[in-house]
Amino acid sequence: MAETNQQILFAARPEEWPAPETFEIVETPMPEQGEGEILVRNVALSLDPYMRGRMRERKSYTAGFELGKVLQGGVVGEVIATKNNQRFAVGDYVSGLLGWEQFSVASGKGMLKIDLDAAPLSAHLGVLGMPGFTAYVGLLDIGQPKAGETVYVSAAASTVGSAVGQIAKLKGCHVVGSAGSDEKVEACLKRFGYDACFNYKNADKLHRAIREVCPEGIDVYFENVGGAMFDAALLNINVGARIPLCGMISQYNLAAPEGLKNLGNLLVNRARLQGFIIFDHYHRWADFVTDMSGWLADGSVTYAEHITDGLENAPAAFVDMLRGAHLGKSVVRIGPDRA
Ligand SMILES: NC(=O)c1ccc[n+]([C@@H]2O[C@H](COP(=O)([O-])OP(=O)(O)OC[C@H]3O[C@@H](n4cnc5c(N)ncnc54)[C@H](OP(=O)(O)O)[C@@H]3O)[C@@H](O)[C@H]2O)c1
Repeated sequence: MAETNQQILFAARPEEWPAPETFEIVETPMPEQGEGEILVRNVALSLDPYMRGRMRERKSYTAGFELGKVLQGGVVGEVIATKNNQRFAVGDYVSGLLGWEQFSVASGKGMLKIDLDAAPLSAHLGVLGMPGFTAYVGLLDIGQPKAGETVYVSAAASTVGSAVGQIAKLKGCHVVGSAGSDEKVEACLKRFGYDACFNYKNADKLHRAIREVCPEGIDVYFENVGGAMFDAALLNINVGARIPLCGMISQYNLAAPEGLKNLGNLLVNRARLQGFIIFDHYHRWADFVTDMSGWLADGSVTYAEHITDGLENAPAAFVDMLRGAHLGKSVVRIGPDRA
C-alpha cells in the first residue's frame, strides 16, 4: 500500500480562464478510513465543463469548490479496503464524486458499483456515465423528438453532443450538428451518424450556416453552447420547437455573460425552452443504463475519448477540455485499471 496520497487543491479563484496558479499539487499522508467508509484507489478522473462553474463564488445548483481544499470530480476506482462490508467488497469497482487525488475515502453515499462487462472503466465517466445520461434525459424527456423531425445539436462532437446525435438518429430524426474543427465535423459525419455537420469557426454568419444544414427549420435544438450560437439557432426554430438548455460552455470563462437578441422567436414560434440539471433525473438512471448498454453492445452507439496520463497533468488537461482542444471525453488516468 502506498504511504502518501498525491492531491490537487483549489488554490486560487480564476477570473476568466483557469491558470497554473488555480491549482496546487501536494503530497499528503494516506487518508484514514472511519467506520462505514471505503478506501478507493482512483483509476480515472472525469474532466467536465460544470467544474468551471464550481470555481465561481456565485450561488449555483451545487456547492462551489472551497479554496485550499481538494478539487472534486467524477471518478472511477477500485475499493481496496472496506469498513462497509454490507455494500462494498474489496475488489469492487465504483464510480462517484471523489477528489482529484490518488486515494479517496468515501462513505459510499452516492457511489455506484460498475459493471466492467458493459464497457471499459473510463466509459463509465462518459457515454455510460453522467454525460451520456444527460444526453439521454435531455433529448428524450425534455426534447421529446419525433421521427422525421430535425434535431440540431451544438458542440455536436462533445461527450454529451455525440450521444445526443446518435440517440436522435436511433429515434428516426434528421440529425444535424456544429463542431469546432474539421476533425470533429468528420467524426460527427463518419462515426456518430449525423446527416450533416459544419465547422462553426469557419462560418461567416452562423444563422445562415445553420439554415443551410436545416432547410426545413429546427424542431429540437439541443443547446450545449450559449452565446452567439444560441441566438443564431433561435432564428431557425419551427413552431412548437423544444430547446433542452443543457449547457452554455461558450460563457463559462467570461467575466460577464453575453446577452441574447432573438428571444422573441420563442414567443412567435410558441417554442419551449427548458433548462435542466441531470442530478434531478436519477429516477431515469436504470432505464438509461439498460438502453445505453444495449446500444453499446449492438454497436448502434459509439464514443470517443481523450486520455491524459498522470494526475499531475490534470490542470492543463482541464483547460484543454474547456477549450475543446481534443475530440472525445476528457479523462485523466490516475492509475492502472488493475493494481
Ligand atoms: N445540464 C446538465 O446537467 C449537464 C450535464 C453535463 C454536461 N452539461 C453541459 O453539456 C455541454 C457539453 O458537455 P460535455 O461533457 O459533452 O463536454 P466535453 O465533451 O468536454 O466537450 C465540450 C465541448 O464544448 C465545445 N466548446 C468549448 N468552448 C466553446 C465555445 N466557446 N463555443 C462553442 N463550443 C465550445 C468544444 O467543442 P468544439 O470544438 O466543437 O467547440 C468542447 O469539445 C456543456 O455545456 C456542459 O456544461 C450539462
